[in-house]
Amino acid sequence: DQNAAGATARLDEAIQLLDSGYVPSWIYRDEQVFELEKQHLFRRNWVFLAHETELEEPGDFVVRAIVDDSILMVRGGDGEVRGFLNQCRHRGSRLCQAEKGKARNFTCIYHAWSYNREGRLVGVPYDKTIYQGLDRDELGLAPVRVEACEGFLFGCMDAAAPSLEEYLGDFRFYLELVTRRSRTGMEVVGVPQRWIVEADWKIAAENLVGDAYHTPFSHKSTFDVGLLPFSSADARPGGSKTGLHIQAGPADVAMIYRSPGTFMGYPPEMVQTLHERIDDRQRALLDDGTGTGDGVFLNRFHVFPNFSCLNVGGILDDALHPYCSVRLWQPRAAGVMEIYSWLLVERDAPAAFKEASRRAYIVSFGPSGMLEQDDMENWRTISRTAEGAESREVAQYARMGAESGVEPIADWRGTGTAYPTQFFDLPTVTFLRRWAEQLRAGVAS
Ligand code: FES
Ligand code: FE
Repeated sequence: DQNAAGATARLDEAIQLLDSGYVPSWIYRDEQVFELEKQHLFRRNWVFLAHETELEEPGDFVVRAIVDDSILMVRGGDGEVRGFLNQCRHRGSRLCQAEKGKARNFTCIYHAWSYNREGRLVGVPYDKTIYQGLDRDELGLAPVRVEACEGFLFGCMDAAAPSLEEYLGDFRFYLELVTRRSRTGMEVVGVPQRWIVEADWKIAAENLVGDAYHTPFSHKSTFDVGLLPFSSADARPGGSKTGLHIQAGPADVAMIYRSPGTFMGYPPEMVQTLHERIDDRQRALLDDGTGTGDGVFLNRFHVFPNFSCLNVGGILDDALHPYCSVRLWQPRAAGVMEIYSWLLVERDAPAAFKEASRRAYIVSFGPSGMLEQDDMENWRTISRTAEGAESREVAQYARMGAESGVEPIADWRGTGTAYPTQFFDLPTVTFLRRWAEQLRAGVAS
């Protein structure tokens, strides 16, 4: 129909622009784009939803979302975490109204049908009197696929999509470098912080995909107050903290060079544990990233479409305290997202380490964090300017590195493709091209 033809034409135009290194502004605030993303992107890909330590015991549940679909995640009596649409099968009320808790059954507020923690319909008031042969097996909660990798629980609404393991592919190699500093895995601290920002989710994603450029300027004040463990000079092109960029599976990974003998403030026991729990190839990479003897540290990653991780450290009381935050950029409306930000710590770490990590995180990221506030202000203005009838038609410049032609590192020891810089726009363009192509394929199908 006409709508589909219009959408296809706009997406073709976007792809053409991206291929020449330009980004159309309208994609950051557009009703049609939001609808297409909801239909064709977030219903097809694996989306991060929770960490397994948020659901420790049978009956523990959290309510999360994939865009507008509310999803109830609950650990069953058999220990398995399942996902369901949070929607009563009777007349469609939102079944679970709480955001987190522990329950044996979930009872609907409207007519009191109840479901157990495996999603089965187990209670129907006046069943025998008013229904003749109600098929309870047919009326369980609608399942959403949930699979886990390294403690991270992802959901997928597409029954035909490949497994999570296949989806993550080459990226798992890097994910383990973040999760294996502990013998007992990572755990969440408290509940995720979440807040609404009037900015498109893609802008935040792109920032985590590969915007090393903004750090010395947008975050100048954090350098000035001495919160960051390196100087703004280190964050310049060629500086020690703008090391490598890797594309692996659906993910982008940023590595920085380590100061000799250090590991972002992680204590030697944790570094030792990490080395024991990864394989030779991963060890070789960490200790001798490019074959020149420079060790690397993985300090951020982004998994398509909207899951990111920041693994850095903050200086408080003259000491460097590392923290690891994962975040979800949840679309809420055209040009509006809800940010979820979790703090993760190594489960077997001493209490003092966990507390220091929490403090370093809270002053740096989350709604109270200095760095986060700088970022949010930038992101908001992009979606706002994209509302302008004229401004939305202006193409943004994403050709950093295009002329010089950044070449992949030959004989890279890790999985995926690595580049010797973080100052180039290839990652952003690749991300947006993937985005545009998925929407286009969705419209065509
Ligand atoms: Fe849930 Fe009727 S809508 S019991
Ligand atoms: Fe930033």
